[in-house]
Amino acid sequence: MQPAKKNNPELKLRLDSFTAECLGYPAYMVMLEGEDDLQDFQMALKNLNDPKALVVIKTAMDAAKLDFAKLIENSITFGKQNPENKPVTETIYESQPEDEQTCLDIVERSVTQSRMQNDSQIPSGAGQLFNRHWIENCFKGRASKIYVWKANPDSKATGFCALIEKSDHVVVDYIAVDSDHQGKGIGGTLMQAAESYAASLKKLLYVTTQQKNEKACGLYKSLGFDIKTRLNCFHLHIGQ
Ligand SMILES: CC(C)(COP(=O)(O)OP(=O)(O)OC[C@H]1O[C@@H](n2cnc3c(N)ncnc32)[C@H](O)[C@@H]1OP(=O)(O)O)[C@@H](O)C(=O)NCCC(=O)NCCS
Repeated sequence: MQPAKKNNPELKLRLDSFTAECLGYPAYMVMLEGEDDLQDFQMALKNLNDPKALVVIKTAMDAAKLDFAKLIENSITFGKQNPENKPVTETIYESQPEDEQTCLDIVERSVTQSRMQNDSQIPSGAGQLFNRHWIENCFKGRASKIYVWKANPDSKATGFCALIEKSDHVVVDYIAVDSDHQGKGIGGTLMQAAESYAASLKKLLYVTTQQKNEKACGLYKSLGFDIKTRLNCFHLHIGQ
């Protein structure tokens, strides 16, 4: 006898207003726990009335199970159970409002692989807007703490990390180092500042990146982070 299919009444297409704002048309986000969710998902899709929309699907299932959507990225969440509270070097400063533009410039020059940039069906302007609004939101209060790396207090930032404090952990929401200055230890120093912040709160530290981002994965592994979860992210374009 076939095992009964489990219905998932919780399966909802959640409006993703942040992505929608960058795209200029509706966007939805859904988490598919397993194959049992696929039928419920197809039903939910039928109830969408938008002539054009993007549905972002996050799941541990592989591409063979979601052949109706486009695999955009394999993401890995790294975690550190016992972050160390080492003294933060003198090149690390808490961000000031005037650092925002420099951080935006760093992202524009150095970040080329965000989820939106990895989808050729999304106009490049929307991908850049996605990164820009993300950083602006961090400076507007999304981030609990933003650290910048500066060669000296009066120089411009060369890298930054934005951290969010959650109930039992801290997330590195964004980290970027100017492309001309990568490979010099700045990312590692910023991550040490993130560790010390999490350690001061007695919380775990998490950071998510893409499997193909070898620099970022190499950095987190070298700092003793373990892989906690892997998720695949798919885009389903409706009406295109
Ligand atoms: C990821 C990033 C922040 C790393 O910053 P960085 O200043 O270049 O990193 P560091 O110089 O401190 O490197 C620290 C460690 O990372 C690892 N690393 C760096 N480059 C690497 C590469 N090409 N491959 C594998 N590991 C690498 C090494 O372990 C290195 O330690 P080592 O120099 O002692 O060997 C930077 O590359 C960046 O801004 N990339 C674009 C934005 C981005 O992808 N952000 C991460 C998204 S979560």
